[in-house]
Amino acid sequence: MPALLEIKNVVKNYDGKTPVLEGVSLELNRGEVIVLIGPSGCGKSTLLRCINGLEAIQGGEICLEGKAIDYNKKDLTGLRQKIGMVFQSYELFPHMTILDNIILAPTKVAGVNKERAKKEAMELLNKVGLAHKAKAYPRELSGGQKQRVAIVRALAMHPEILLFDEVTAALDPEMVREVLDVMLDLAKQGSTMIIVTHEMQFAEAVADRVYFLDKGNIVETGRPKSFFSAPKTERARQFLNIFEFESIKDEKEEYNI
Ligand SMILES: Nc1ncnc2c1ncn2[C@@H]1O[C@H](COP(=O)(O)OP(=O)(O)OP(=O)(O)O)[C@@H](O)[C@H]1O
Ligand SMILES: [Mg+2]
Repeated sequence: MPALLEIKNVVKNYDGKTPVLEGVSLELNRGEVIVLIGPSGCGKSTLLRCINGLEAIQGGEICLEGKAIDYNKKDLTGLRQKIGMVFQSYELFPHMTILDNIILAPTKVAGVNKERAKKEAMELLNKVGLAHKAKAYPRELSGGQKQRVAIVRALAMHPEILLFDEVTAALDPEMVREVLDVMLDLAKQGSTMIIVTHEMQFAEAVADRVYFLDKGNIVETGRPKSFFSAPKTERARQFLNIFEFESIKDEKEEYNI
C-alpha cells in the first residue's frame, strides 16, 4: 500500500530559475508525525505550502493516497479539506467570535449543518481548554489561546493530514508550552502531521521521524533519538550545535524523553 502522502523529487523555484527545493522526497504514513527542521531559508515553509497547494511545483510529484495531486486544477478546496495547515500567524477573522471562526469552513465549505458544526466546535474547544472563550472575539484572547483556536479550526475540517509551520514562533515563551501540549496530545491520539519547528526538545518528543533540510535538499533523516544524539552528517551536527543542549536537559525530563 502506498504511503498516505508521497513527495517524490519535488522541485520548486519562485523565479523560473533558482531552485528553492532541489528534488525533495518524503513519505508520510497514516498516524505518523514527521518533524521538519533546518536553517532559515532552507525551504521548510515552501515545502509545506507546496503540499497543500498554496504553491505550484515545477518538478516531481506529490501523491495523496496514491493519486498524484493535480496542482493546475483551479479548485483545490478538496485538497485543502484533506490537508489542513496552521501558520505562525493565526489569521482568525477579527470581527467573528471564536465559535464562528471555527464553524465557518465546516458550514460554508464542507456543508455541515450549523448546529452539528457548533456542537463539534464546542467539543474541540473543550479539549484545548477554551470552551469558555467560544463567544469571545480574537482580540480578547492571548496569543497562545488564539493559536489553540487556529488548531481547532483546522481540526474542525477533519483533515487527513495536518501541517504546522512554526506555530509557536511568534508566541511569548510562557505560551509556547500550552500550544505544544495540544500538538503532543494530537500525536498521542494518532493524528498524521508534518511539523516545522525550532523547538528541538519538543521535536524529539513528538516526532516519529525527523527530516533535516538544508538549501532545498533533505540532508539527513532518522528516528529522533538517534538524530538528536548522534546526527550522521556534519551539516546536521553544526545545525544542532547552535541550540544549547545543556540548557535543554531539564526540559527533556519535562517531556519524558
Ligand atoms: N513567495 C516567495 N517568492 C520568492 N522567493 C521566496 C518566496 N517564499 C520564499 N522564498 C525564498 O525561498 C527560500 C526558502 O524560503 P522558506 O520560506 O521556504 O524557508 P524556511 O525554511 O521556511 O525559512 P524560515 O525558517 O526562516 O521560516 C528562501 O530563499 C526565500 O527567500
Ligand atoms: Mg518558514
